[in-house]
Amino acid sequence: MIGRVELPSWKLLAEHAKEMKGLHMSALFDEHENRFAEFSIKLAPFLLDYSKNLITTDTMQLLFSLAKDCEVELWRKKMFSGEAINRTEGRAVLHTALRNKTQRTIYVNGEEISKAVQDSLIKMESFSNKVREGHWRGYSGKRITNVVNIGVGGSNLGPQMVTEALKQYSDNSVNVHYVSNVDGTQIANILRPLNPESVLFIVSSKTFTTTETMKNAQTAMKWLTSSSFDAAAIEKHFVAVSANKANATEFGILEENIFDMWDWVGGRFSLWSAIGLPIAIDLGFEKFMELLDGAHEMDKHFCDSPIDENAPIILALLSVWNCTFLGAQSQAILPYDQSLHMFSAYMQQAEMESNGKSVSWYGVPIDYPTVPTIWGELGINGQHAFYQYLHQSNNVVPADFIGSIESVTPIKGHHETLMANFFAQSQALMNGVNEQQVREDLKVKGRTPEYINQVAPHKVHKGNRPTNTILMRRISPRTIGSLIALYEHKIFVQGIILQICSFDQWGVELGKGLANKIEVELRCGKINPTHDSSTKELINYYQTIKNTNL
Ligand code: F6P
Repeated sequence: MIGRVELPSWKLLAEHAKEMKGLHMSALFDEHENRFAEFSIKLAPFLLDYSKNLITTDTMQLLFSLAKDCEVELWRKKMFSGEAINRTEGRAVLHTALRNKTQRTIYVNGEEISKAVQDSLIKMESFSNKVREGHWRGYSGKRITNVVNIGVGGSNLGPQMVTEALKQYSDNSVNVHYVSNVDGTQIANILRPLNPESVLFIVSSKTFTTTETMKNAQTAMKWLTSSSFDAAAIEKHFVAVSANKANATEFGILEENIFDMWDWVGGRFSLWSAIGLPIAIDLGFEKFMELLDGAHEMDKHFCDSPIDENAPIILALLSVWNCTFLGAQSQAILPYDQSLHMFSAYMQQAEMESNGKSVSWYGVPIDYPTVPTIWGELGINGQHAFYQYLHQSNNVVPADFIGSIESVTPIKGHHETLMANFFAQSQALMNGVNEQQVREDLKVKGRTPEYINQVAPHKVHKGNRPTNTILMRRISPRTIGSLIALYEHKIFVQGIILQICSFDQWGVELGKGLANKIEVELRCGKINPTHDSSTKELINYYQTIKNTNL
């Protein structure tokens, strides 16, 4: 049982980090004219520039050695070939098989799975076409005009993020909506303007046990049947995507209306499966396949490129470098493309649910920092909100800047303004501006010495803040597919390097279990006296105010 900290490359990196902390990126740029050429990769869907990290050639060589010492290539092979690398659940991890364009044969527990994947795609194609072309009709014979996807976490974030990202590619033959929150406000607001006769519900839940999803699905069913006066209407208006057919049929969904999911696909990596059905209905099946093509291209790059030219591996190594060795605790995702407005929310689940853990795969506590808090917002909005913190707080927040060369909605003059900010911000974060420069600038502007003395320290930007830049040609199903797969593989490699079980999520269970018990207390009005005083009094206060007519 060799812990990562015992690896020679890890020890060397720890020593190297001490030296690097004393350096400034702007000096590294001054010293090394070809820094961009050395620390960037051009791939078909985008360019990745990682030169604005606190790294040198030596840093990268040590990180590449770490990847080798951690046998990243071997683990990659294990994942793609269907080994049960999800150790705690004894499952294979095969979201890549969902976009396996080369039709490799893959076995899970002795069973070949590509045929099942293919069959599911055929069913999705046929169904999405029927809905889009108006052949699938509601109980009264009306065309389906609105699709409501009910699901949460991985059964919501991926499809919704992609639907939003590819809005410009939709022909709007059907409107797609997403309900994830058990707060009734969301479903009520979505259903209020809709006509039950022309709404199709997709209940998306891998387990078909998720409380929030089940409650929303029940409400949707009541809404439909109370207006149709006919339980038989359900078969025209409800389909499900689930690995738990028994629960879905028991819930009332016709068996032939159930789309398959498999336990070898993690929820947060599932948008490539029938969980992506709302995407296929919104964009058309062809575009859904282009999304899969884009992901497959990234899979090929990840599998075939050497470590030192491998974008997902490099991103993972940089994350480990910035967080574990240099001490950053959070990571911002900053898209400069409106289409990606949900991308950081999606990435939060992808990375934090996968690697936000503190026990190694040997079941022993990990004593080094693992993955950062992922957060973010559209870059331009962030500039007028939290960039102050990125530039001048004492906490260094590495950031990924993601932008497009062409807008999908070109409006004269807008894109240059947007992209000027995109380039300027990562430059400012890297270079900063020192006190002498600030003073000179103020002097040139004719400020008085008193004013300069007062204001100069506040205008200093230390810089030296790491960023990666991903620059796409333009948002398309293919580029989005590649972008998502890039981050999926980054997360996988991070997990291998940090010795984390990336594909389970035990940390969500405790709260779920307690909520189930407390819900019973709220319904029957009996508070468990063994709760801690805070929880007990909060529930007490809630019940008292609720029952008071004030
Ligand atoms: O509670 C977390 C989680 O299990 C996620 O991992 C998952 O994506 C989400 O809930 C939804 O699960 P399901 O698809 O089974 O409803």
